[in-house]
Amino acid sequence: MDEFFIVGGNKLFGSVNIDGAKNSLLPILAGCILVDDEVLLKSVPRYSDVLAMIEILRHLGAKVEWQGQDLYINCRGICACDVPLELACKVRSSIFTLGPITARTGKAKVSYPGGCDIGLRPIDLHLAGLKQLGCKVIEKNGYIYVDGQKLQARDYMLPFASVGASENIMMLASCARGQTRIFNPAREPEIVDLERFLNGCGAKISGAGSNVIMVEGVKKLHGCEFSVMPDRIEAGTFMIACAMCEGEVELKNAIAKDNESLIAKLQKTACKIYCDRDRIVVKSKGRPIAFGEIETEVYPGFPTDLQAQMCALASICDGYSLIIENLFESRFKHIGELLKMGADIKMKNGVCVVHGKEKIYGAEVTSTDLRGGAGLVLCGLVAEGYTTVRKVDLIDRGYFKFEEKLRALGGDIKRIKCEKKVDNC
Ligand code: UD1
Repeated sequence: MDEFFIVGGNKLFGSVNIDGAKNSLLPILAGCILVDDEVLLKSVPRYSDVLAMIEILRHLGAKVEWQGQDLYINCRGICACDVPLELACKVRSSIFTLGPITARTGKAKVSYPGGCDIGLRPIDLHLAGLKQLGCKVIEKNGYIYVDGQKLQARDYMLPFASVGASENIMMLASCARGQTRIFNPAREPEIVDLERFLNGCGAKISGAGSNVIMVEGVKKLHGCEFSVMPDRIEAGTFMIACAMCEGEVELKNAIAKDNESLIAKLQKTACKIYCDRDRIVVKSKGRPIAFGEIETEVYPGFPTDLQAQMCALASICDGYSLIIENLFESRFKHIGELLKMGADIKMKNGVCVVHGKEKIYGAEVTSTDLRGGAGLVLCGLVAEGYTTVRKVDLIDRGYFKFEEKLRALGGDIKRIKCEKKVDNC
């Protein structure tokens, strides 16, 4: 597995282009299974999670071709209805195929998903939604078997606003006879993007981003050309990087309203933030002031996917910060690695108290998951001395050319290639 070698201390200056959102692309790739025609996804970053979803589509019988950065997906030839363990274990979003495969072929056999190790990640809400829409679901020998012969539109009330479950049920319902109403869905911008994509293919969905999503089932979806929304987590990571390293960074293709909760916190650290329609500029000078408290919540609350990067920032702020993780119980594994760099963090009952240090120091650290790894990179950029971040394949799941983008801004970071491939099943 590759490593990043970082020499800390450089300020960041310049422009960075934010890629298409990973968390939008993954359900949309699953959504392509519903489409009996060609879909063109414009300017797709090669996150390793995206490559893993493409492998799944090809296994199902889809033709997927790159032309430069554009991705052509043709699911006309879909003949299989199974996603085996060796493919599903590579990516959490393999579970998103459950709804679309069932709607398309009338049945599905999908292995339990893999993905980042951030604690228990149940799929009960996905399965409850399938059952509510008339599917028979059996869990056996590590697989989920779905019989969708009696698929029927119906109301479904999510007891918790799960992003993935909302998306799975939206996709299933797009081709179910009648009208489905999804109550208490997640309201993340990526759900709105999925609605935009499916409607572009002829689905009849409304209400994404609100408290009820309405889906009028259609017989068939047609192809379309689509550009996914900018990645708000990548944008947030670069904003936090600038707040930590000092300097002035322009983010192109970044939407401020998708990151309001982060912007409010960064303004407390004394960063200056300027926003246009699709551009954000961050200016930071001197040691950041502690931002107070963050508590991760469903959108529009503070995103759990930026919690690790905020732990990194809190480690060097002047003052102390409180960080509360409400969504994933084991999403503090990066703390152990931050301690190796001299951070002062105490943890009790899911609450982190971070006393900012004037200096943190380079060390050999290991990515614990995608966003935890990104947090370690940010610490490496600001630390005194050298930092090695191991297991950067976890970071590659959701950042494309991360080190190249940071280097272009002045960060002293390079990738050390390691030949040995490790299977992440
Ligand atoms: C998505 C994002 C992930 C982000 C997360 C929360 C993608 C590909 N991934 O993940 O980056 O961290 O939203 O914003 O979009 N839950 C259940 N039962 C279920 C499903 C979820 O109890 O069936 C719980 C989870 O354990 C967790 C919470 O709901 O505590 C949120 O999970 P969910 O919103 O489903 O996250 P994902 O869709 O997995």
